[in-house]
Amino acid sequence: MFTLAHLSDIHLSPVPRAKRRELMSKRVFGYVNWHQGRKFVHRREILNLITSDVVGQKPNHIAVTGDLVNLGLPEEFVRAAEWLHHLGPPARVTAIPGNHDAYVRLHPEAGTRHWRPFMEANDEGAALFPTPATRFPFVRRFGDVAIVALSSAIPTMPFNAAGKVGSVQRAFLAGALDDLARAGLFRVVLIHHPPMRHQAGWHRGLRDAGKFTEILKRHGAELVLHGHIHAQTVHELPTATGTALVIGVPSASEAVEGRIPAARYNIYAIAWTGAGWRVEMVGRAVGGPDHVWECERRVLRER
Ligand SMILES: [Fe+2]
Ligand SMILES: [Fe+2]
Repeated sequence: MFTLAHLSDIHLSPVPRAKRRELMSKRVFGYVNWHQGRKFVHRREILNLITSDVVGQKPNHIAVTGDLVNLGLPEEFVRAAEWLHHLGPPARVTAIPGNHDAYVRLHPEAGTRHWRPFMEANDEGAALFPTPATRFPFVRRFGDVAIVALSSAIPTMPFNAAGKVGSVQRAFLAGALDDLARAGLFRVVLIHHPPMRHQAGWHRGLRDAGKFTEILKRHGAELVLHGHIHAQTVHELPTATGTALVIGVPSASEAVEGRIPAARYNIYAIAWTGAGWRVEMVGRAVGGPDHVWECERRVLRER
């Protein structure tokens, strides 16, 4: 059995003080927005509760699906890297970027480079599917389970949180899903934005959701994990190789009294039964100022 924890939308706080020149961009809107409200929603003490709980549960692996930072300030990327290392070593933690991690166009040296050890293939994954020069998708393999990690993060105009996978990544994704299916692996796809068209509108959703879903339908996947909408959602997508579970998780730092559900993460127990894959999901949520509880336990797939 393989256990995979899924966290998303960290929105690490506090936001470092910004220099005046750093606010000469879309950031100025986000900076005001953060100080007027979002900082009361995404709280460090809540994230700390979730972080210690997930570390204590000792999953085999942890996936973080984006929005680690808020305004894309260089200092935020450094702090997020420290948080990732606290979660676990890069071999046991995989991260992908979200729209907030591409908030403004930033030189990679000042941005997600700090997360690179968490955002690259492992040797077993690269042996099956070498990472293209575009860096995404990359594949990590752990025994019978393979993670295919994508980036839907693109810089956008203010008040726009859309994402896009793009034709190049979609083509590589199709190849990766085929290769991993041939190897008989359980395929987990990581993407920040919800992948299905009805899940978010033009200003917030995945621009190429229709084309992306087509790839999933044609080439198959067992589990698709996403964040971005800060809500727990479960969908089933029929594909050529069986049903894909498409699951979104709430933010890992949402305050209990927030507008949207309190901070939560999920742990998936994935096991080959001899006749097929069994998948059980356990949801763990912040229930008060000092505790995390098991809010849901559900077998999603039984063969
Ligand atoms: Fe988010
Ligand atoms: Fe997002």
